[in-house]
Amino acid sequence: MKKTQNQMLIIFGASGDLTARKLVPALFNLYKGKHLPENFVVLGASRSPMSNEDFRKKVVEESEFLKKKLTKEEASFIKTFSDKIFYEDLGEKYDVSYSQLANKITALNEEHGTAGNYIFYLSTPPSLYETIAKNLWEEGLTKEDHGWKRIIVEKPFGYDLASAKALNEGIHKYFQESQVYRIDHYLGKETVQNLLVTRFSNSIFEPLWNRRYIHHVEITNAETVGVEKRGGYYDKSGALRDMFQSHLLQIVSLIVMEPPINSDAEEIRNEKVKALKSLRIMKDEKTIIENTLRGQYVASTIDGKTMKGYREEDGVDPDSTTETFAAVKFFVDNWRWKDVPFYVRTGKAMPTKVTEVIIHFKTPHHEVFKSQDIYRKDNKLIIRIQPDEGILIKFGVKVPGLGFHVEQANMDFYYSDLDSAKVMDAYERLLLDAMQGDTTLYARADEVEAAWKFVDPILKCWSESSIVNTYGYSVGTWGPRNSDELIEDSYGWRNPGDLLTDESGFCVLC
Ligand code: BG6
Repeated sequence: MKKTQNQMLIIFGASGDLTARKLVPALFNLYKGKHLPENFVVLGASRSPMSNEDFRKKVVEESEFLKKKLTKEEASFIKTFSDKIFYEDLGEKYDVSYSQLANKITALNEEHGTAGNYIFYLSTPPSLYETIAKNLWEEGLTKEDHGWKRIIVEKPFGYDLASAKALNEGIHKYFQESQVYRIDHYLGKETVQNLLVTRFSNSIFEPLWNRRYIHHVEITNAETVGVEKRGGYYDKSGALRDMFQSHLLQIVSLIVMEPPINSDAEEIRNEKVKALKSLRIMKDEKTIIENTLRGQYVASTIDGKTMKGYREEDGVDPDSTTETFAAVKFFVDNWRWKDVPFYVRTGKAMPTKVTEVIIHFKTPHHEVFKSQDIYRKDNKLIIRIQPDEGILIKFGVKVPGLGFHVEQANMDFYYSDLDSAKVMDAYERLLLDAMQGDTTLYARADEVEAAWKFVDPILKCWSESSIVNTYGYSVGTWGPRNSDELIEDSYGWRNPGDLLTDESGFCVLC
């Protein structure tokens, strides 16, 4: 196991939701799992007047996100965790002198022996990234002469390519790229990391992982929830920015990439960047309209209950055309993937919460046993990222009886069957990686820019073209009806259920 050095985590925007909801529970689990170094403190910094005690109460002792866990723990255990947490009020704004903050950091560092190793976690709007980086630099807090300094930034990393570049340039004025950790919480999911392992540690998949054997690749990301309380943010963002540019293109890069030379962070990230750069950019309106589709959920009634449409959500413009569903078909211009279509869709207010990748293999070149049902005769590899995490292979078997009728059977593996140690939550894993200086699961500047480069023309066309429609779909359905038309040869999308094997099939092999 790698050693985690003594250090301090300084969270900007600490009074916000993310700290209580994700960061502190992740730190608590790391503490319980004995993953935190001996000398470790957290310093929350934001614009709310609070004492250390108030902050501890808010994010630990009275936190609704820790409530269940705390009841099981000894009071002394909670106290020792809570004692590691401190708070500094920055006053009215983030753009002030950080000399007082610097004094506090120095004092805590000396008192708690954190060896001058600091992680600055920016849980603030991206418009503040450069300002905070500059103010830290002015106080000498980015210098690595006594201990290392790292900065973690949250998504959204940019609004488009130009703003992402500007953010990168702004941060790079004060931090080296090797100090910057851009969070994409999907990379912290075990099952997303397992895409790499499935591909590169088995000899049965990789030889087939190319245009000769793969017919098309399908990725579905669906959520049952709507925009909830985030209407204000979401209405300016939309599904393509919110999910596709970041999380889904990260998954795409892991499917498309070539084998890295080794498992070093830079080698893996180099291959991911190459993969993202090889996505064929759609340049003209006609191509974009033919290969993309946007939708928005509209009110419906489910089990007698009226479900709000997107335009009725708080913070959303009643005439909004922002997409809550996006589907994109694209190609990858390289030797491995020539002519293999990729279909990726994401949506809110859909029937179930699920993320999965489906590799559809080609039917055998010569068909000895004919089958009428095109969707059922090809082999499929389904990688379930969430929930009911696992892998399913669909293959043809003979229907008992006369003749050679072929049906599909399932061969499955579930993560829950492994009796190894508990699976870390995404934030736990990513925080621990940053603490240990491992950047593998963080997006590099060129990676983020390559993803925006692909998405930018689509966003531009969607916002400027007078002939791009936003299609309505009822809450609780699989998106606009015409989204099936995006997929050629009447394959359609696989609309899965909660469970990996939910989909009518012939039999289940255990
Ligand atoms: C976030 C998006 O990054 O990911 C949200 O901003 C989305 O809109 C969330 O709901 C989904 O994450 P998960 O881990 O629940 O699939």
